[in-house]
Amino acid sequence: MIEIKALTKVYPRGKKKALDSVSLTIPQGIFGLIGRNGAGKTTLMRIVATVMDATGGEIYIDGSPLKDCKDVFRSSLGYLPQSTKLMPRLNIVEFLDYVCIMKGMKEKAERQEKIASVIETVGLVGEEKKRLGKYSGGMLRRAGIAQAIIGDPKVLIIDEPTTGLDPEERLYFLNLLSRIAMERTIIFSTHITADIEHLCKNICILEQGEVKYLGEKEAFVSGIEGKLWTYTGTREDEEQLRRDTVVTSVAYVDGAAEIRYVSNEPIFDAKPATPTLEDAYIHALGGVKR
Ligand SMILES: Nc1ncnc2c1ncn2[C@@H]1O[C@H](COP(=O)(O)OP(=O)(O)O)[C@@H](O)[C@H]1O
Ligand SMILES: [Mg+2]
Repeated sequence: MIEIKALTKVYPRGKKKALDSVSLTIPQGIFGLIGRNGAGKTTLMRIVATVMDATGGEIYIDGSPLKDCKDVFRSSLGYLPQSTKLMPRLNIVEFLDYVCIMKGMKEKAERQEKIASVIETVGLVGEEKKRLGKYSGGMLRRAGIAQAIIGDPKVLIIDEPTTGLDPEERLYFLNLLSRIAMERTIIFSTHITADIEHLCKNICILEQGEVKYLGEKEAFVSGIEGKLWTYTGTREDEEQLRRDTVVTSVAYVDGAAEIRYVSNEPIFDAKPATPTLEDAYIHALGGVKR
């Protein structure tokens, strides 16, 4: 279990706090960290991954301060940064061999066995000869997961892995994550709520360096149950709803506005709607932007 207490980060040239007294507990399983660009997701992940120091606060791993067990924690950690350059001239086997050596695996036969096994796990069998520079975005992300899981780490930190993937690659990737989640803690960040709708039990919503919500996803979504309505009307209706309620989405279909909004009582002739994680998330952020 990872416990984060009052973590604060101020960058040397940062105008405001990138993290402002963030406290959260991350249990086993897949933990979803959601937030818009600039919310502080990467900052938080880099600090937990021990590649950057916090300005203040503490992190505890199974009850011990992280600063006292950094080396042990690092050896049980896999990290996939948001942007990775994976040595374009190497093929996946050469690249993973390099990673294994960096992780201290001295036996060649052991490395070969581990490499073959992760290549299988991430679905890159048959792509061993190709240089990484020739891989697609999805294949690179799988190669990134391969390097992160190769020592069989108990904790995986994965920063916005679905950005830039096409729908098929994205689904493959999300499935892969749920397959490797057993008996691990995976911290997964995204700005796309659909990524974690079916993946995570526990979530944290980060906004401008602060925790907006922490807890079970279902409780978060059911917070607006019975208060979400859908109504199809004019632009004037939309303006009124934007003024008087919290609008979670607007779709324009054939010149009409299909509006979903949160309000204790329905306004206009609205029908009740079933909330999604996206509705709850947009509601927590104060409504959909124009
Ligand atoms: N190296 C840096 N120097 C100064 N400010 C930074 C630096 N990296 C990030 N920030 C700022 O910190 C805040 C959080 O950024 P980040 O953690 O990258 O958010 P996210 O990953 O959620 O998009 C943003 O306001 C960003 O501009
Ligand atoms: Mg980021």
